[in-house]
Amino acid sequence: MIFEQIATGGCQSYLVGCDKTLSAVLIDTEASQVDRYIALTTRHGLTIRYVIDTHTHADHFSAARALGKRLGVPVVSHRDSPSAYADLRLDEGDMLAVGDLRLQVLHTPGHTRDSICLVMEDRVFTGDVLLIGGTGRSDLPTGDPDQLYDSLFDKLLKLPPELLVYPAHDYKGQAHSTIGREIAENPRLQKRERAAFVAMMRELNLAAPTHLTEALRTNISGGKTVAGLLAEATAAVPFMALSELNTRQAGRANDLVVLDVREQDAFRAGHVPGARNVPRGQLELRVNDEFPDPTVRIVVVCEFGKISTLAAATLRDLGFLRTAALDGGMKAWREGGMPLET
Ligand SMILES: [Fe+2]
Repeated sequence: MIFEQIATGGCQSYLVGCDKTLSAVLIDTEASQVDRYIALTTRHGLTIRYVIDTHTHADHFSAARALGKRLGVPVVSHRDSPSAYADLRLDEGDMLAVGDLRLQVLHTPGHTRDSICLVMEDRVFTGDVLLIGGTGRSDLPTGDPDQLYDSLFDKLLKLPPELLVYPAHDYKGQAHSTIGREIAENPRLQKRERAAFVAMMRELNLAAPTHLTEALRTNISGGKTVAGLLAEATAAVPFMALSELNTRQAGRANDLVVLDVREQDAFRAGHVPGARNVPRGQLELRVNDEFPDPTVRIVVVCEFGKISTLAAATLRDLGFLRTAALDGGMKAWREGGMPLET
């Protein structure tokens, strides 16, 4: 077996391959690591057959859709997954064949309705159902502490005690555990009576995960994250350094237009000398009047350098092919002591 555990903060992803056929799967991938998964797959000479999400993640952005598209392979989830882009939906008792490897599906709702665990040879991928020294929470959308009790005590914990546990999260740098160790040591599993377990889960009172809405929105729809949108725009436009623009301004170069896309108030309070102002919200509708010559060189400016990147990508899309974005924004321009016009 070829096995890689890839941590992104507390999120754990897995690359598992058959060493005989070099077929492989990716489990619980994270959006910022797409290039890393591809690189690891290439390094081991593997071909990915499936990209699996053990459940609808509410706390991180899944890379499943992006990887499925890029690699041309099915995105796999449980039948109850709300995902709009899952290609292969599994039921309890189904098994995936990946070369000589067999991944057996257990439906283990409770953390979410669509949670699955995958048993493979000497190990089980437990998603967020069973963590090392913890369990998944049951208070997020579709969670249910009663179902979590059933999934743990009637299913997962009845697996052989020596089975290795690989969860979708670990925040303490622990790679894995075993079923036996968790039964003995996991504090949450010491409440073995249903009522006591359910009461404990209801009383946890955990803060909502950061990015909850964005994670659910993108993981369910396959839509883009804000970071993903910015990354796409960043890849689609060239940038101009603050110092380069400053030098050109000082030299009174008039071969480019500085376009400030902040709101009028911010623009009036101080802008790059000679800059023009079209707020981002009006850009598409005013651009033909503002820039009759589509070959004009435009450098787009905003406060922090993000909205200007999106606006520059929009202008390029519209056919203003000499548009660049300032690398940084007016905040950095001011803090760098560069000249302002009010
Ligand atoms: Fe989760």
